[in-house]
Amino acid sequence: MKLLILNGPNLNLLGQREPGIYGAQSYADLVALIQENARRLGVEAEVRQTNHEGVLVDWIQQAYGVFDGIVINPAAYTHTSVAILDAVKAVSIPTVEVHISDVSKREDFRQVSYIRQACVKTIAGHGFQGYVEGMEYLIQLTMDNGGVR
Ligand code: DQA
Repeated sequence: MKLLILNGPNLNLLGQREPGIYGAQSYADLVALIQENARRLGVEAEVRQTNHEGVLVDWIQQAYGVFDGIVINPAAYTHTSVAILDAVKAVSIPTVEVHISDVSKREDFRQVSYIRQACVKTIAGHGFQGYVEGMEYLIQLTMDNGGVR
């Protein structure tokens, strides 16, 4: 089983960026945690980050027929991007939306998520562990649906 883990803008600055909200651990620490858990769970995980909306759209499109599930933290594009929503709908790959912080307790503009309606689950406020929970959810969902093609 192959999972694609996508990260949007400014997540490359984890550790340095608003540590009171996002924690002291770096993006490299996040990638290491995901890879460690992918090994434990017996799946392949590819982890990517970009600051560009169109690149996220390209990666989602290219995932068709290649990846069995997507875990995505679209970061600020969560609250603005119809293009990313449409890309997830277009490929119909089971997708989990993850946020490190609890967006429901933050500013009003963070209460809107365009991508949410195309996702099988949303996990927010569980820190880096949310990505692991997202992977576990997709593995369980795939097993419930009879495994990988
Ligand atoms: C975030 C929450 C977003 O509102 C914000 O723009 C981010 C990160 C999170 O992981 O908590 O960049 O997606």
